[in-house]
Amino acid sequence: MNTNYLTTICFLLALLLPLPSSSKNIPALYAFGDSLIDGGNNNYLNLPLQGKANFPPYGIDFGGKPTGRYTNGKTVVDYIAILLGLPLVPPYLGLSKHQRSKITTGINYASGGSGILQETNNETILTFDHQIKFFKRTVENDLPQQFKEKVELEKHLSESLFVVSTGVNDYFQIKNRILPSTRSFALYLLKEISIHLQTLYRFGARKFFVNNIPPAGCFPASAVRMRPRGNCNQTLNTMIISYNKRLPGVLYQLQSQLPGFTFVHSDLYGFLSGLKTSAHKYGILNTWKPCCPNSIHGNLRCLPNTVPCEDRNTHLFFGEHPSQITNHIFARRCFHESTICRPLSLKHFAQASSESHGSAKRY
Ligand SMILES: *[C@@H]1O[C@H](CO)[C@@H](O)[C@H](O)[C@H]1NC(C)=O
Ligand SMILES: *[C@@H]1O[C@H](CO)[C@@H](O)[C@H](O)[C@H]1NC(C)=O
Repeated sequence: MNTNYLTTICFLLALLLPLPSSSKNIPALYAFGDSLIDGGNNNYLNLPLQGKANFPPYGIDFGGKPTGRYTNGKTVVDYIAILLGLPLVPPYLGLSKHQRSKITTGINYASGGSGILQETNNETILTFDHQIKFFKRTVENDLPQQFKEKVELEKHLSESLFVVSTGVNDYFQIKNRILPSTRSFALYLLKEISIHLQTLYRFGARKFFVNNIPPAGCFPASAVRMRPRGNCNQTLNTMIISYNKRLPGVLYQLQSQLPGFTFVHSDLYGFLSGLKTSAHKYGILNTWKPCCPNSIHGNLRCLPNTVPCEDRNTHLFFGEHPSQITNHIFARRCFHESTICRPLSLKHFAQASSESHGSAKRY
């Protein structure tokens, strides 16, 4: 009885103690990928209106200002930065030359519409290759202005978190190609993503956070075409699963081949499809109709000044993309649990990295 009581007290005290500031564990966040995490790069590109998100009602819950984020508020990358104790990560194209030479807490290179493949929307957006080219400039021209010694720069890069969230647009793009077999297309994408990750590794990246591909067959534009309406397009989802089920294997293979390579694999697909049945727990009532526009009649596009649904927190999707509340639930669960994010929760991953650096320093 007495010991139980003490245990409870200790447990409660442990809960009250502040967590050590995580910002020391992960000094910076560099992000690559598509519209799920684009923080405004596409604002600076010459795109047609439907490729952009720099008009209201986007950003309605981001201080009321559109920023280029494809949602009503914060993205997954915003929440990861906050949970790691870092400032929000600015889009590369929005930074002046001077700002680029000063910043040491991370940069977002992601561009809505991009994919793993060089040919995916390559005429308009920043492809993954292009994003890596900009990162190369950061490593070669900008960061050395703050990290004068080569070892300092290497340490900075090896401790930073590299967020990669891409692949869904490659699946949207295949409508325009001769359809390869599902398996061979998945293998092709996996080979290419592996090459991108190896390139980042060669520039000094060691810690990766990699999202798998979300269930695009359940996104509003697909679901609205199904009978009954709102069902997921399983043809598309099955193709995506072929990639997703092999992605962890690719990451483990890189880990075994590249010294120091570590990763968190995040099952965005499992999270979003699970949310379709558990959403009510979080107050999300609508799991496929977008909040913007507020009606599925006619054009499904969220256009400038379209009136969105009143309570954004009741919708899984804002437009064609997950809403802020969905992003928030995802980031929190990935940070605290090792169900969606594996083999470690992001929090434990960040702590484990700092421990390994601590011990490395002693030798
Ligand atoms: C874009 O992709 C197409 C199709 O693969 C290719 O022919 C073209 O050269 C690419 N353009 C650029 C700028 O990479
Ligand atoms: C489901 O997705 C597949 C693959 O993208 C596509 O060919 C098919 O037309 C979609 N079905 C419907 C009803 O839109």
